[in-house]
Amino acid sequence: MTDSPRTSSANMPQTGSTTVQSATTKKKLGPVLVQLQHVNKWYGDLHVLKDVNLTVRKGEVVVMLGPSGSGKSTTCRTINRLERIDSGTILIDGKKLPQEGKALQKLRQSVGMVFQSYNLFAHLTILDNVTLAPRHVLHMPKDQAQKEALELLHRVGVDGQAQKYPAQLSGGQQQRVAIARALAMHPQVMLFDEPTSALDPEMVGEVLNVMTDLAHQGMTMICVTHEMGFARHVADRIVFMADGRVLESESPEEFFEHPKTERAREFQSKILGH
Ligand SMILES: Nc1ncnc2c1ncn2[C@@H]1O[C@H](COP(=O)(O)OP(=O)(O)OP(=O)(O)O)[C@@H](O)[C@H]1O
Ligand SMILES: [Mg+2]
Repeated sequence: MTDSPRTSSANMPQTGSTTVQSATTKKKLGPVLVQLQHVNKWYGDLHVLKDVNLTVRKGEVVVMLGPSGSGKSTTCRTINRLERIDSGTILIDGKKLPQEGKALQKLRQSVGMVFQSYNLFAHLTILDNVTLAPRHVLHMPKDQAQKEALELLHRVGVDGQAQKYPAQLSGGQQQRVAIARALAMHPQVMLFDEPTSALDPEMVGEVLNVMTDLAHQGMTMICVTHEMGFARHVADRIVFMADGRVLESESPEEFFEHPKTERAREFQSKILGH
C-alpha cells in the first residue's frame, strides 16, 4: 500500500507552436488556453467581477490571491460556467463558452475543478468515484476507465485504497482522490479553489505535492490558495484580486518583492505576518 504522492512523467501535454517563456521558471508555455475578456458579473446589486481580464497559456500555473470576497472563487466558477457572466467573453482553447446544452457540457469537461470540500460520493468506492464520469459522460468502456483510474490513483499516491469508501480515507487522501477524479476526464486545465483549506495541517503537504507534480508535468492550472510556498515556488504568475478587479498580474518574484499596489502590500503584510 502506498500513501505518498509521487512524480510521474506520464501525460505530459504537448505544447503548441506558439510558445513563450515563463518569466520565473523559464518553462516554455504554449498557446493561450483560457481567456477572460472584460468579464463582469453582478449578484443582484453587487458588482462582483469588474472588467476582469485574464489570459492563461497552456502549461502555465497561475495562483490567484486576494482578500476574502475579492472574487477569486467567482472567477473560477465562471470559467467552467458554474456561474453565468453578465458581460464579456470567456474563451477556452479559442472557443467561446456556450450558454448551455451539449457544447457547454463538452467544454466543461475540458476544465477540471477541485474544491475545498472534496464531495466524493460516500456510497461509492474510491475506484467507482473516479470511473463514474469517464464511464457515463465520456462513455469509456469499464476496463479502460478502471485502468486509467488505477493509474491516476497511483499518481496521486492512493492506489492502495481503490476498494475503500471515502469515509475510510483521511481528508488528505480524499482530496487526492478528488484530484484523480478531475484528471480522469482528461481536462485541458485544472482549477483549484482552496484545495487545502479544509485539511488538517499535516495533510496539506501531501496535496500540495500532488499539485506541484502536476505543475511540473505541464498541466495548465489556476489555483486559489493561501499556501504562499506554493505561490512563490510553483506559480508562473500571481494574479492578485481585490474588490472584483485584477490589480496585479506578475511573476511571483515581482509580486512578493515589489508589490505595485497598496492593496497588495496590505494583503501581504496580513498573510505573511502570521
Ligand atoms: N451566490 C452568491 N450570491 C450572492 N453573492 C455572492 C454569491 N457568491 C459570492 N457572492 C459575493 O461575491 C463576492 C465575491 O465572492 P467570492 O466567493 O468570489 O470571493 P473570494 O475571493 O473567493 O473570497 P474567499 O477568499 O472568502 O473565498 C463576495 O462579496 C461574496 O459575498
Ligand atoms: Mg473563495
